[in-house]
Amino acid sequence: MAAAQKTFKLNTGQDIPALGFGTWQAEPGKVETAVAYALKAGYRLVDGAYCYGNEDEVGAGLAEAFASGALRREDVFVVSKVWATYNTRVELGLDKSLKSLGLDYVDLFLVHWPLLLNPNGNDDKFPKLPNGERDIIRSHNHVDTWKQMEKLPATGKTRAIGVSNYSKRYLEQLLPHATIVPAVNQIENHPQLPQQEIVDLCREKGIHIMAYSPLGSTGGPLMTAEPVLAVAKKHGVKPAAVLLSYHIPRGSTVLAKSVTPERIKENLALVDLDADDVRALDAYSDGLARERKLRRYVYPPFGVEFGFPDKSNL
Ligand SMILES: NC(=O)c1ccc[n+]([C@@H]2O[C@H](COP(=O)([O-])OP(=O)(O)OC[C@H]3O[C@@H](n4cnc5c(N)ncnc54)[C@H](OP(=O)(O)O)[C@@H]3O)[C@@H](O)[C@H]2O)c1
Repeated sequence: MAAAQKTFKLNTGQDIPALGFGTWQAEPGKVETAVAYALKAGYRLVDGAYCYGNEDEVGAGLAEAFASGALRREDVFVVSKVWATYNTRVELGLDKSLKSLGLDYVDLFLVHWPLLLNPNGNDDKFPKLPNGERDIIRSHNHVDTWKQMEKLPATGKTRAIGVSNYSKRYLEQLLPHATIVPAVNQIENHPQLPQQEIVDLCREKGIHIMAYSPLGSTGGPLMTAEPVLAVAKKHGVKPAAVLLSYHIPRGSTVLAKSVTPERIKENLALVDLDADDVRALDAYSDGLARERKLRRYVYPPFGVEFGFPDKSNL
């Protein structure tokens, strides 16, 4: 089955595509066309967020694809995320995203990061203190945000709820209080940052992993890693195909971002990695872990200990 058509099951019973289209850092003026192009090319999941500042264009791209008659709203799995300044006002955050997207509902709504940035601060998204530091409300408990999230499915404005950037420690704090188990944990994931302890816990609890920055984010730095090049050579494909395909045997959904038409299309062509390939990529990860060279590419400078072992000494 072509990767774009492959799906996994969420704990809500929904089907979620194995491959999704990312929209972070997709520049205004490019992202509308990119989303419409991606949907026509075969992607059936679009991942966005209020914080990306481009949901109106993502919505325009969706509208363009729907208007073309190529697909209907119910054919696309749309994801949005509540930004950290809205973590005490999650329904307002969702309403704002829906308005920008021009939709009545999203399929999945995530807590983008488990912290509260001052909702009454000097900026809607990135409030700062007079000394230039991020304006963080440190007394806030992320579990309280989740208790608000649990009210959203009943509104019909999202079909499922989940989290993002949750470490094992944060999940263990959350789960005893959860009436609804998150459907998803969206985390940075690739051979240089396998985060196996989170992946294993999520699998045990029925939480689906969505892997972000699979190429190492901006510029795709992982595409030059030797073990990735070796697997790519064996299959006669480009390194990006190996890095995206890595997640399918792991049972995870992978998000690929590009605003470049050839790459958008190229990223749809995943390969079936065999047991030797998986072993080689896992050995690469294990070696990096032993040498303490695991690499996290996306880590906003919040100055908060989120419980990730590779970031335990901020
Ligand atoms: N939850 C979170 O906190 C979080 C954080 C980060 C990302 N995400 C989500 O995950 C998505 C993917 O992650 P990401 O955007 O950080 O990075 P990524 O998908 O790992 O990499 C994107 C970069 O790789 C380039 N690229 C894409 N396909 C390529 C190909 N086939 N060959 C060569 N270069 C290629 C893109 O360039 P061009 O666009 O110029 O073609 C862009 O510079 C995001 O867009 C977002 O939706 C979520």
